[in-house]
Amino acid sequence: MRIKIVGTGSYVPERVVTNEDLAGMVDTSDEWIKSRTGICQRRISDGIGTSGMAAMAARRALANGGVRAEEIQLILLATSTPDCHFPSSACQVQREIGAVHAAAYDISAACSGFIFALNTAYSFIVSGFYNNVLVIGVDCLSKVVDWKDRSTCVLFGDGAGAVVVTVESEADKAVSGNKAGNSADVPGILHMIMGADGTKGHVLSCESRTVGNFLTGTEPLTGYLSMDGQEVFKFAVKKMPEIIEQLLEESNVKLEEIKYFVLHQANYRISESIAKRLKIPMERVPVNIEKYGNTSAGSVPILLDELNREGKLKDGDLLVMAGFGAGLTWGAALIRW
Ligand code: UT7
Repeated sequence: MRIKIVGTGSYVPERVVTNEDLAGMVDTSDEWIKSRTGICQRRISDGIGTSGMAAMAARRALANGGVRAEEIQLILLATSTPDCHFPSSACQVQREIGAVHAAAYDISAACSGFIFALNTAYSFIVSGFYNNVLVIGVDCLSKVVDWKDRSTCVLFGDGAGAVVVTVESEADKAVSGNKAGNSADVPGILHMIMGADGTKGHVLSCESRTVGNFLTGTEPLTGYLSMDGQEVFKFAVKKMPEIIEQLLEESNVKLEEIKYFVLHQANYRISESIAKRLKIPMERVPVNIEKYGNTSAGSVPILLDELNREGKLKDGDLLVMAGFGAGLTWGAALIRW
């Protein structure tokens, strides 16, 4: 079975917010932000919400893949910052793009969300339930960042990325392969890993609404994003190399065979440290964090879309996508383009 990404798309808000802009708001500097994170600027929404950004990215992915919205059977949307408790952002996108035949729901796995959604899409296709799935990773973290907290507000940006995942043909669908559903030399999603450790939830969290009602006598409170940056950093630089090695070992693929490691964009130093631990040069670890900051569930698909549109992905290339985030969660996927 050839389960392929046939189209990619992304959207970031137009408004650029530079490090200098933030230095005018909190006690920080361009030098600190650049040297500690690699971020120079980020895009911040001046109105468009999570589902609006997601719909823009989705339309671009459909156009890129030559797939009509009506052909989509399932929309999986990963986000931690939906516009509403309900309806889900996925249902809002379904309405906006006219995907009238699609079931739709959200997936919450923070910055790992896109990988979790992609892996879920893949599993639905392998099991024969759906042939065409639209997978979206989107976050509008500017809604939940405390713009007075310099330790977090400099890190994040808003944005969305999307891919269309499909089975190449009905004939392919009939011949299911190994446990990964693909043999390593045909195009498609070859293998995946997901994990979670809820005991570390406190190191990166954002309360949505506390209990507040006639019994408590209090109003519900909403929270800001809070993070123990160093704990997240340590977790990421240990866990990412581990799961990438596991993914490749289980797939019988060597590190040298991978063209690009498309990693969650949280901090340039994290990507650099992962590359160092895996002993791979940074040329094989593309980054765009300098332009967008950490866009959470949006970061991996935005980067993938950039590589695709720049013509850097050739048929047969092997890619690893990997992410980590609140939960704590982590995930990876091996793809032959
Ligand atoms: O998607 C996952 C989401 N999160 C992450 O991936 C975050 C992972 N962690 C990180 O990227 C890094 O830990 C940070 C970038 C958040 C922080 O970098 P760090 O090198 O770990 O800095 P630190 O927290 O140890 O802080 C060093 C100093 C502190 O001052 P003192 O105590 O040494 O005087 C901070 O108060 O830098 C200070 N500081 C700042 N200074 C200027 C913290 N934020 C800022 C700031 N501007 N924006």
